[in-house]
Amino acid sequence: MSQTQVTVPDLGGIDEVEVIEISIKVGDTIEAEQEIIVLESDKATMEVPAPMAGKVAEILVSVGDKVSSGTLVVTLESNSEQASESTEESSNEEPEDKVASPETSKVIDAPTAGAKNNEPINVEIKVPDLGGAGDVEVIELSASIGDNIDAEESLLVLESDKATMEVPAPDSGQLVSFAVKVGDKVNEGDVIGVMSIVSAATTSADSASTPTQTAALEGSASEPNVKEPAQAMKASSESVAEVASTGSVHAGPAVRQLAREMGVDLTQVSGTGPRNRIVKEDVQGFVKTKLKQPVNQGAGLLAGVIGSSEDFSRFGPIEHVPLNKIKQVTAKNMVQSWSTIPQVTQFDEADITDLEGYRKGQMAAMLPEGVKVSPLAFVLKACVLALQKFPNFNASLNLDGTQLITKQYYNLGIAVETPDGLLVPVIKGADKKSLIDFAKDSAELAGKARDKKLPMDGMMGGTFTISSLGGIGGTAFTPIVSAPQVAILGVSKAATKPVWDGEAFKPRLMLPISLSYDHRVIDGAEAARFARYICLLLGDTRHMLL
Ligand code: COA
Repeated sequence: MSQTQVTVPDLGGIDEVEVIEISIKVGDTIEAEQEIIVLESDKATMEVPAPMAGKVAEILVSVGDKVSSGTLVVTLESNSEQASESTEESSNEEPEDKVASPETSKVIDAPTAGAKNNEPINVEIKVPDLGGAGDVEVIELSASIGDNIDAEESLLVLESDKATMEVPAPDSGQLVSFAVKVGDKVNEGDVIGVMSIVSAATTSADSASTPTQTAALEGSASEPNVKEPAQAMKASSESVAEVASTGSVHAGPAVRQLAREMGVDLTQVSGTGPRNRIVKEDVQGFVKTKLKQPVNQGAGLLAGVIGSSEDFSRFGPIEHVPLNKIKQVTAKNMVQSWSTIPQVTQFDEADITDLEGYRKGQMAAMLPEGVKVSPLAFVLKACVLALQKFPNFNASLNLDGTQLITKQYYNLGIAVETPDGLLVPVIKGADKKSLIDFAKDSAELAGKARDKKLPMDGMMGGTFTISSLGGIGGTAFTPIVSAPQVAILGVSKAATKPVWDGEAFKPRLMLPISLSYDHRVIDGAEAARFARYICLLLGDTRHMLL
């Protein structure tokens, strides 16, 4: 075991910064590059990562302490091999490579160098020294062309794997153009735009050369009146990750990443960190609050934008009709299922000529008083048999997508149209039900759903869903898989069609079915077989007895 002392890296000319977060505690075993402390100046926030893996032996600073380049912050214990490797690595490095020289962090005050007599001049804004990082992505344009911008106001935000950094205006002026757009990759020295600048400083530049219409804002130690760029809190990209406060959002890369993953717009989040910096807890808290809000407020966050802010009254008379709870919940669930499940629909047709002959003839005569069996009961029976034969359809994907959870119970949801919207009561224990049970249960549950008498648990626990529009019409449709289920069967209206039997066209009653399935779990061939099997069972109901 040996001890390694971690110090504050080069701060690119800034004397003192504040420790605003300590991300580790004594005794923690940490990885190389793991964030250990966060420092902040007026303009930028820096995450200091561990130079190597090890155990935290001592933390020598507290939140609120002021530190400078070289201040000892943490002692790490590591096995001697790791330590010597890391020492060797750092001793082999040229200091110039590891730490940006003060000169490279300077930029010319462009107006000073190029203008006089208060004439506005166009100044090219260039990407400043990135501390060794290259191909950094433009993630935000913080201003619009024509905007009057104050000195130091953010023009755009750059982000690498590890750091986010704003590029501020060098002086007050008007933004003339952007030379980049969001998503572009830039490097130090690339022109990002042009500003028209009139500065008090320009009058002091009488001795400077004749103004040019376009002065470059770039580093050169030989030119006069250099000043620190606002983003000069810079150090080796190997040792420090840099983040920045943009005009609208003040958050580090890890927080921005989390926000992106959770679909959170950071401009909506209030920061509770020092100087209102947004920390991870703020993003998590924001999501929790949204989840607790009534569904119409929470839906936007979870389901993406589901409506329009357009003023349709510009085009004609309109009316605002409030959506009831059922419709709002349905909208949220549909967007979630549609946007999270890669789904495909397989179409097929079952020849139910014989089934319908039986259902309307002998079967009807044998039914108990008051019981009516619609084709839906046969479809439910066929589905449960198909689910038993193809267990992947009676399943859910686990959270990280590494396991399929197959269920040994069969609960069939049936989509029921009600005056308030769509409800999906569940027939539980479907593998133990007869055709008559299915007929009775579906009629009873549909009745309860329409009379608002369905208990909450009557709609829970479904393993597969059937949506029948057969009583209404239509030739096919694409039902949306209801997450976390992996498949749904749509049934359309049976119609008599000419079917070739090898010798002649015969009139046959064909029932269209549409099987939507989660393609992460089910392959197309499997879906085609599942749909075919249902058609086989419905085509000859004797197969249901096997
Ligand atoms: N093809 C031809 N006729 C059909 C049929 C089909 N696929 N399915 C039902 N029918 C017939 C029935 O036999 C019945 O006719 P009949 O009275 O002459 O016997 C008639 O259509 C009406 O049937 P319905 O009352 O709809 O009963 P059902 O058992 O078929 O369906 C529900 C019950 C609850 C599914 C149904 O009432 C319902 O709400 N469907 C809408 C579901 C929905 O909105 N889905 C969309 C989700 S996105």
